[in-house]
Amino acid sequence: MPGWKIGVIALAGVMLLCCGGAGAAGAWVWSGSQRDTVGEVDFVNRLAIPRLAASRVDGQGRRVFDLTAAPGRHDFGGRTASTWGFNGAYLGPTLRASRGEKVLVNVRNGLDEATTVHWHGMHLPAAMDGGPHQAIAAGARWSSTWRVDQPAATLWYHPHPHGGTADHVYRGLAGMFIVDDGIDHGLPDRYGVDDIPIVVQDRSFDGDELDDSRPFLTDIGILGDEIVVNGTRAPYLDVSTELVRLRLLNGSNARSYNFGFADYRDFALIGTDGGLLYRPGAVSRIPLTPGERAEIVVRIRPGERAVLRSYPPELHGGALADRFNGGADRFDVLQLRAGAALSPSAALPSTLAAVELPDPAAAAKTRTFKLSGTRINGQDMDPSRVDATVVRGTTEIWEVTNADGAPHNFHVHDVQFRVLGSAVPPHLSGRKDTIFVRPNTTVRLALRFDGVADANLPYMFHCHLLAHEDNGMMGQFLVVEPGQRAGKPPHHDHGN
Ligand code: C2O
Ligand code: CU
Ligand code: CU
Repeated sequence: MPGWKIGVIALAGVMLLCCGGAGAAGAWVWSGSQRDTVGEVDFVNRLAIPRLAASRVDGQGRRVFDLTAAPGRHDFGGRTASTWGFNGAYLGPTLRASRGEKVLVNVRNGLDEATTVHWHGMHLPAAMDGGPHQAIAAGARWSSTWRVDQPAATLWYHPHPHGGTADHVYRGLAGMFIVDDGIDHGLPDRYGVDDIPIVVQDRSFDGDELDDSRPFLTDIGILGDEIVVNGTRAPYLDVSTELVRLRLLNGSNARSYNFGFADYRDFALIGTDGGLLYRPGAVSRIPLTPGERAEIVVRIRPGERAVLRSYPPELHGGALADRFNGGADRFDVLQLRAGAALSPSAALPSTLAAVELPDPAAAAKTRTFKLSGTRINGQDMDPSRVDATVVRGTTEIWEVTNADGAPHNFHVHDVQFRVLGSAVPPHLSGRKDTIFVRPNTTVRLALRFDGVADANLPYMFHCHLLAHEDNGMMGQFLVVEPGQRAGKPPHHDHGN
């Protein structure tokens, strides 16, 4: 956070202690900075479940999907707004493919500006990644094809146009991409029945438009007043089984959540960004910053109504700054309504999957990344500059420091990393592609780059608070063959 903003926040704090008009203004700023919907959500709208995308298999054996991004109007339940969506007015269908399959996604841009479609969490060639170098002009088409080669996981897709990601995602362009691996993990797996996609976003409404105004006194980006899940306000989900698996995605621009249940019950954490954990872990809270996913399994009792809630997220930036960044906010998110009789679910297995994680002992190189202001290592994103060149087939350690008092997280394209440290909590113990970096701390990650080399087209790494990403907190890395020299990213006349 720039120094002047810290000053302004401190001033706002001082104003709270004063009397008279300044104190009243400070109190207004202070009370307006907190959102709390606990106990106030009536859960009258049935949760929308994004449909599974239709697909066909072409002559080359590829599973083919079609996506069209276009504007529309979406009924959120009690409010309707102008939105953007894939194959519909808001969000997009859930894509699903298995490890080993080749996929082809044909994207048509029906917007009147350029966009891209990025496969967040997917291991794939840089040319297929859908980052800022794969812009799709208004009215144009783009096809992305790759062989799915990673463990079963809950991934997602969203636009990534240079400088425009926050706007495109906020308007509604996002969807889930579920990777299967053909292994029976003994988990609830009936999509929409006991295996539920949960895309959590915060939105504010202004008449019949989405309100994209940014909060006062912080550069975190949009913080919405209320929660929509899969595009549904005040949602409930009818539950018919004893165990329910929720695939939680924080699809918000800036807001961090700290999910738990209203009655503090424990639930099983079974997966993180890039796949299943080795064994289920009992937890009562799961924190998710923008872009992160977690899979959980919750036990439901017949006839009950269980409320998924977000408790104040621990942003660790100090009470004053945290409050302006959503750190004091609470939300009722989703009500699970159990039938009077529930069909039995098999008990969770004691082990779930072999977790494929990089070995830090094999690391060939250590790099450091310092997040500060709108920059990484002192530099704003430049699409023509390569910030790191890594050699295919090697493992590296990346040390990422948040040098600010403000929250940042760190996302790396193409790979799933391992979080290093002596006391890694369960939610950071598995495969990750996005991680919260507490103010004034450093995270150490091990990453293995074993995909396709491309000496000219880079992948991105960035803060996934979308306003930060758009403002420059992003960099690029190339993966090259051993002995190969880094080339130059293409120059774009448009879209940058
Ligand atoms: Cu979810 Cu570079 O993005
Ligand atoms: Cu990504
Ligand atoms: Cu950030």
